[in-house]
Amino acid sequence: MDITGTVEMVLRHKGDAIYSVSHRATVWDALKVMAEKNVGAVLVLDEDQRLLGVFSEREWVRRSSVPPEDPRATPVTQMLTDEVVCVCPGDDIAQCMRLMTDHRVRHLPVVEGDLLVGVVSIGDLVNWVISAQDSAIEQLEHYITGVYPA
Ligand SMILES: NC(=O)c1ccc[n+]([C@@H]2O[C@H](COP(=O)([O-])OP(=O)(O)OC[C@H]3O[C@@H](n4cnc5c(N)ncnc54)[C@H](O)[C@@H]3O)[C@@H](O)[C@H]2O)c1
Repeated sequence: MDITGTVEMVLRHKGDAIYSVSHRATVWDALKVMAEKNVGAVLVLDEDQRLLGVFSEREWVRRSSVPPEDPRATPVTQMLTDEVVCVCPGDDIAQCMRLMTDHRVRHLPVVEGDLLVGVVSIGDLVNWVISAQDSAIEQLEHYITGVYPA
């Protein structure tokens, strides 16, 4: 099955909210935003609101030492991924899935020129594909049974 659709279509469906923290935040501040908003990652922005990196649950797990650092005393900039993989609104969903697989990331900031316009996650893309499959199956059922959508 071909995967059709663009990042812009996903953002229209899921919304363009962007959850972020400042580069001065601690890991604790970032974890609090993630818990409040029920998301697995936050973007870290500099004073000019430019994207510095992404901090996710995975960064916290992978980059923590044993025993873990005190999150209240650890700057988020010490734990973030600064090799950020971004996409544009016009990029297609199959391309985003490939990027996530190749770079082993679950969140892609969406940029339009210098402007941040949203975030898409692996869950958003999987949901998109499942919905597209459901709709293709429904159309095939209608085709087989001779019932066409009004
Ligand atoms: N029911 C839904 O519509 C829906 C949508 C996405 C994910 N999920 C489920 O949630 C679970 C985890 O999802 P996930 O791995 O995709 O990651 P996640 O928990 O980080 O993402 C959940 C939602 O929050 C959004 N989000 C995450 N970080 C954001 C940020 N910093 N700024 C703005 N939006 C942000 C994502 O785009 C996604 O829509 C999975 O079980 C997935 O199936 C459900």
